[in-house]
Amino acid sequence: EQAGKGEYDHFMHKEIHEQPTALAQAIEGRIDHGSGRIALEDFEPGTFEGIESVQLVACGTSYHAALYGSLALNAAGIRATALLANEYSVSAPPVDDDTLVIAVSQSGETADTLNALRQARASGARTLTLTNVVGSTAAREADDALFIRAGPEIGVAATKTFSSQAVMLLLLAQRLADDVRGEPHADLDSLLPELAAMPDRIDAILEASTADRVARRYADSESYFFIGRGLGFPVALEGALKFKEITYEHAEGFASGELKHGPLALVTPETPVFAIFTGEEDEKTLKNAEEAQTRGAPVVAVCPEDHRAVAVADDHLRIPETDADLAGLLANVQLQLLSYHAADLLDRPIDKPRNLAKSVTVE
Ligand code: G6P
Repeated sequence: EQAGKGEYDHFMHKEIHEQPTALAQAIEGRIDHGSGRIALEDFEPGTFEGIESVQLVACGTSYHAALYGSLALNAAGIRATALLANEYSVSAPPVDDDTLVIAVSQSGETADTLNALRQARASGARTLTLTNVVGSTAAREADDALFIRAGPEIGVAATKTFSSQAVMLLLLAQRLADDVRGEPHADLDSLLPELAAMPDRIDAILEASTADRVARRYADSESYFFIGRGLGFPVALEGALKFKEITYEHAEGFASGELKHGPLALVTPETPVFAIFTGEEDEKTLKNAEEAQTRGAPVVAVCPEDHRAVAVADDHLRIPETDADLAGLLANVQLQLLSYHAADLLDRPIDKPRNLAKSVTVE
């Protein structure tokens, strides 16, 4: 097993460091720089013509990627909702043959996600699986499959596959907008070079991260809160999930604006607040963070160096400047490292947290 970890003590740490390669593999050959269009191998232009709405079904970390994707789809003018696969049997919104249901699953074997996929098919929806595993059940059972090409992920807590899923959903959003409305939505002239630069940007974070120091500074806290807005919201949820999965400490993610609607009652000097800034209404998120700070909570800003939050915050996890579509994914890398180092300090079994399984094949 140690051989598979290479120079790393844990698979999770190795897989965090594999993200530049995983993302390069995910986007390779899928962007036609000449036409500025997204080329998804098995999907001829026009494949998604006629799709009126999208439902994304997933669990755990994949659900956070699905939520990220749903926001990107909505921004691209495609009606989309992310749904917890395990709730789908009791609360699925109506579907018809103009609905595309996308199962997002690293393994392609999660029972809850397979059930939702089967239900959607039986209801007449078009189905697509986004997965890391070629030949997985979800890939075989859906009408179509799209692979994230992240390479095997051994650590129970998903890391590189989240980044790859989110990036693939960003590409898919542009592709759907192109097929459905005849034009991609985002300013692809700026998004595509930023996407291509993601591997280098993540490398820069991995080389210079101070997440280990920050993890040590807040090691004795009572609870860890993560806040974000827009695309920063799924990242806040994911940051908290990762933290609780591998440290066993209490952590929660909130939409920044929700902090004042309840969670603020929990805020004390013992509850650091990690605030994610993506460039979407950052001044509001900063205000929300300051509301926590006024109640004594230390604030850790996850943002670029010259962001105005740096002067306000007690600590800073630095990310390179990029598009708002991608900033949350860079912030997430810092939060993965934070969780990793916090768990390492506590001597937790990082790759195999208690009570959790890599793939849950029961309902
Ligand atoms: C399990 C794992 C999580 C994962 C979830 C969904 O609960 O512990 O890390 O996010 O399943 O897995 P999937 O393979 O469907 O993405």
